[in-house]
Amino acid sequence: MEQTVGTTEEGRYGVLIHGAGWVSSQHIAAYQGNPRTRVVAISSRSKESARKRAEEAELESVSLYQDLDEALKHPNVDIVSVCTPQHLHCSNVLACAAAGKHIVIEKPLGIGLKELRQMRAAVSDSGVRTVVSFVLRWNPWFQTLKRMIHEGVLGQAYYVETDYCSHNGSWWSGWEDARTAAQGISAFLVAGCHAVDALRWFAAAGELEAAEPIEVYAVSGGYRKGNTTQYDPFHHEWIENAPPMEYNGLEVALVKFSNGVLGKVSVNMDCIMPYRFPIRVFGNRGSVMDNRVWSHHYPGQTDWVEIPSILPDSSDVTHHPFQAQIDHFIECIREDRESHCNLEDAIKTHEIVFGALESCRTGAPVKLPRI
Ligand SMILES: NC(=O)c1ccc[n+]([C@@H]2O[C@H](COP(=O)([O-])OP(=O)(O)OC[C@H]3O[C@@H](n4cnc5c(N)ncnc54)[C@H](OP(=O)(O)O)[C@@H]3O)[C@@H](O)[C@H]2O)c1
Repeated sequence: MEQTVGTTEEGRYGVLIHGAGWVSSQHIAAYQGNPRTRVVAISSRSKESARKRAEEAELESVSLYQDLDEALKHPNVDIVSVCTPQHLHCSNVLACAAAGKHIVIEKPLGIGLKELRQMRAAVSDSGVRTVVSFVLRWNPWFQTLKRMIHEGVLGQAYYVETDYCSHNGSWWSGWEDARTAAQGISAFLVAGCHAVDALRWFAAAGELEAAEPIEVYAVSGGYRKGNTTQYDPFHHEWIENAPPMEYNGLEVALVKFSNGVLGKVSVNMDCIMPYRFPIRVFGNRGSVMDNRVWSHHYPGQTDWVEIPSILPDSSDVTHHPFQAQIDHFIECIREDRESHCNLEDAIKTHEIVFGALESCRTGAPVKLPRI
């Protein structure tokens, strides 16, 4: 007999999806794919979006709301997926924590250090579990590479490089909020935080460990800030008179970690090319360039060994491993343990993001952590 785990009548965890946009479709699909969860409610700015999302996912007996506080009163909500634009994440997380709900928080966590502090206090006071959607930690190639680093295939890693290259623009439904200085804040925050998190992930040897940043130095530039010409990488076309991006699209950061590993990470939203997410890891017994490996483990090796895998090579949310992330989170809740990618851990990734922004402003390195 299956142990009752959640509050729905069949004992599943009831889920509220908040923010019925692009990424929510994959959260819903992942909950539908998990035998222990059921989506019981959707809330969004417009009820119409919530209804559309419910119909598309063929959800039955789902309650629809336009207001988060009302939705949180639904008797069967155990978990909330926060899928709103980034400038709303903090207030959403505070409301969910106060209501005692476990929370899946879309990246980025929030738009400033003050918000990180507020979320840390709220989650700690309420004791709820969290996972932040640095979903690439569950990408198959990420998992293979992390295992290789953990098992010493490269010896001891001393240098890691990761890059997020994507001409984000109006092809993304979230762009109108994300392109602004007030709500988007920076290219690292809007999208490059995936590469920052990957840098931490591969800079640590533990299989479920991300490295602790102690200093960041960054520069930013590129040509796209204020530019009204946009590129559509899917159709290889140019769009004129587009509302401009209000911050620099190119940021490059150097990061020192407490374990001695050095990192270089960039976000390049100015690039004219399809999406790419290059990864390089250098150890004292081998190196990895994307999915190509050179290692002392293979003494007869005469050329790079290429490991076929699913690479982080698409910006499409349907390509992202949300199923594995949600399955992991449900196990954490059931086993009453923290995720390696919880709020507290994700704050360290955001420390680099906000530290980089500060470094760009002052021209000086920034010691971390600052909160
Ligand atoms: N982890 C990943 O790989 C990944 C991938 C994509 C996006 N994301 C993140 O997910 C978040 C959402 O992105 P998205 O691509 O799904 O954007 P989106 O398509 O624009 O969806 C955002 C949704 O939030 C709703 N919303 C806006 N303001 C609201 C408010 N005041 N109250 C309630 N709902 C509100 C909108 O509602 P209406 O439709 O009702 O107006 C919209 O449906 C962002 O933080 C983004 O960075 C993460």
